[in-house]
Amino acid sequence: TTTQSFHFNVEWKKVSRLCHTKPLLTVNGEYPGPTIAVHEGDNVEIKVTNNMAMNTTIHWHGIRQLRTGWADGPAYITQCPIRGGQSYTYKFTVIDQRGTLLWHAHYGWQRSSVHGSFIIHPRMPYPFSVPIQSEVPIILGEWWNAEVAAVENEMMLYGGGPNSSDAYTINGLPGPLYPCSNKDTYIQTVEHGKTYMLRIINAALNNELFFAIAKHTLTVVEVDAVYTRPFTTTAIMVAPGQTTNVLFTANRIPDSSGMFVMAVTPYITSIFPFNNSTSVGFLRYSNFRTETSETPFLPRSSAFHNLPEMRDTAFATRFSKKIRSLASPEYPCHVPKKIDKRVITTISLNLQDCPANKTCKGYEDKRFFASMNNQSFVRPLKSILEYHYKNFTAYSLDFPEKPPNAFDYTGVDPVKENMNTEFGTRLLILPYGTKIEIVLQDTGFLNVENHPIHVHGHNFFIVGSGFGNFDAIKDPKNYNLVNPPERNTVAVPAGGWAAIRFNADNPGVWFIHCHLEEHTSWGLAMAFIVKNGPEQSQSLLPPPQDLPSC
Ligand code: C2O
Repeated sequence: TTTQSFHFNVEWKKVSRLCHTKPLLTVNGEYPGPTIAVHEGDNVEIKVTNNMAMNTTIHWHGIRQLRTGWADGPAYITQCPIRGGQSYTYKFTVIDQRGTLLWHAHYGWQRSSVHGSFIIHPRMPYPFSVPIQSEVPIILGEWWNAEVAAVENEMMLYGGGPNSSDAYTINGLPGPLYPCSNKDTYIQTVEHGKTYMLRIINAALNNELFFAIAKHTLTVVEVDAVYTRPFTTTAIMVAPGQTTNVLFTANRIPDSSGMFVMAVTPYITSIFPFNNSTSVGFLRYSNFRTETSETPFLPRSSAFHNLPEMRDTAFATRFSKKIRSLASPEYPCHVPKKIDKRVITTISLNLQDCPANKTCKGYEDKRFFASMNNQSFVRPLKSILEYHYKNFTAYSLDFPEKPPNAFDYTGVDPVKENMNTEFGTRLLILPYGTKIEIVLQDTGFLNVENHPIHVHGHNFFIVGSGFGNFDAIKDPKNYNLVNPPERNTVAVPAGGWAAIRFNADNPGVWFIHCHLEEHTSWGLAMAFIVKNGPEQSQSLLPPPQDLPSC
């Protein structure tokens, strides 16, 4: 096997967007950060040096980390943070995974600018036979004029109005619909008649996004580094933490501009207008327009025709339902047909009284927090994985496996109902090889948006989903146990549920949380322990020498 080595310096760098220059947290001075590209089966070593005063950690989102939980990255779950001036080398092997993932900081809200693509080239040819001219990472993100750590603080104390980024971005560029951004526009050159692969990553902190290219259809071939049964669509929806590979053919005749618009807009279902408008980039057909330094002119609104409306839940639902595993002889679908355990957990936003003499921006003068089964997760200032490995305690093993009370909130006073949450560090413990089903039930009285729930250390299969409350008798009868999508992040429908299944075959401590960063900070998270199996090959490896201490 080959070992691929990388060095990340986490450091401040002055960056300008939207007429604003500010120090931005970056890796090696790049925004978005550097691309990691390896081959399936490679050993990977990434030395991360923290060149700033705050703590940091980096997470390789979606990498299984089989037996190497020490390299997973979430602060206080699998490691103590890397302190200013210190380094830590993340070492792991990419086993039986191929495609597009992302890496990002996993400390506070640092991932708003500390993120990049993680590309795993396959050992075998692609299961689709179209010749691909080139493969292009498209990182969808956000630009904040404010200091993100300050926004985070504000949200934690008085939280708080939603998303307040100032622009969406395509590969770090907001595009011409925002002030001072003409020169900060992403342009992808294509040749007429050729097929391209876009590796689309949602690295935004707090929004699910729609992405489309005017007049072109997109063929989805992979999600979260798992091949899918190809299907064609006019737009995609991608939640924070999710990735989607699409193919498209440059087969249209452009107008005199020689360009087509590509665009990104949020998917939000109700109440809060989080809309920071639309980020636009361009496809430049090289046969029709030679390169020029001129800024591309603004598209007429009709040019956006492929982008769904911000509240288009019907599109979002249709799109999610089309995703299927390939389930071919080369890439079989390993969905557990039988389960050992079903855990039903609510995912909720809750309310808390405002600190004395303060004004809170949550709901009815209260501030928000969040929970799973009424447990608002508190990260201890220790590494849970290390404590588990050493048989120390910093947590309890009694995460409730069912919601505490009926999760039908119809007719319930949301303010009263949402004041009863407990704060703590309660974990679920699973014997090695448990076939588990987790039903994620959104009870939020504010059905604002989908909750993208991410499971660390495991891919899972989305066997069912729906609106309203999960019915333990009826709903399992309609599960897809043949070719359900396999992912690491599921967008649980607003006001609905999703059932996921996986084989808990990775010993260690694993975080589960909402990938809307705001919700994680408020406690919409839990963690589970997978015990070692009987074989040596089924146990967690010992911690590396340079593992940071708290
Ligand atoms: Cu992409 Cu726990 O994170």
